[in-house]
Amino acid sequence: MHLERSVLTFKKTHLEDLSRVAKELIQRIEKVNVWLFYGEMGSGKTTFIKIIGELLGVEDAMSSPTFSIVNEYAVRAGAKKIFHFDFYRIKSETEAYDIGVEEYFYSDNFCFVEWPEKIPNLLPASYAKITLESEDNTHRTIAVSLHDGKEKNRI
Ligand SMILES: Nc1ncnc2c1ncn2[C@@H]1O[C@H](COP(=O)(O)OP(=O)(O)OP(=O)(O)O)[C@@H](O)[C@H]1O
Ligand SMILES: [Mg+2]
Repeated sequence: MHLERSVLTFKKTHLEDLSRVAKELIQRIEKVNVWLFYGEMGSGKTTFIKIIGELLGVEDAMSSPTFSIVNEYAVRAGAKKIFHFDFYRIKSETEAYDIGVEEYFYSDNFCFVEWPEKIPNLLPASYAKITLESEDNTHRTIAVSLHDGKEKNRI
């Protein structure tokens, strides 16, 4: 059991709106290290993560981690590191466990995760859940909620 707090919903989000949405998100949840991105194929997870990364100061070109499960993006010295995961192609959670995903999640770095539903048993206690849903070809609804397993102790 964990507490879920609805935080933000952005409706009718066009590609051109993504950086405004990303800015607001960074302002609100920058303290959260693990951001889980849910949404069907083509809903815009990678597109949104790239924009968030650029705003956080990623210096090298960001690409979807197509061939590896995790990509690290270069940021300026002293900034929190950014790891981008895509679990779409893993066949079992063991593959994620073997690359040490839990160590990434509990390190003090950003972890942006596509297809977190592939690793239900390895997800950390605290994370932001970001769901992208297509309204039509060019518009998305982006819903954000915070999950903190520790808060169950306070109920
Ligand atoms: N408002 C929007 N937000 C995000 N993407 C959009 C939007 N409108 C159109 N698109 C387009 O939708 C596509 C989204 O592709 P993207 O690779 O980001 O999806 P994905 O969720 O990462 O898919 P996958 O599950 O295959 O990794 C891109 O071609 C992008 O240009
Ligand atoms: Mg993707």
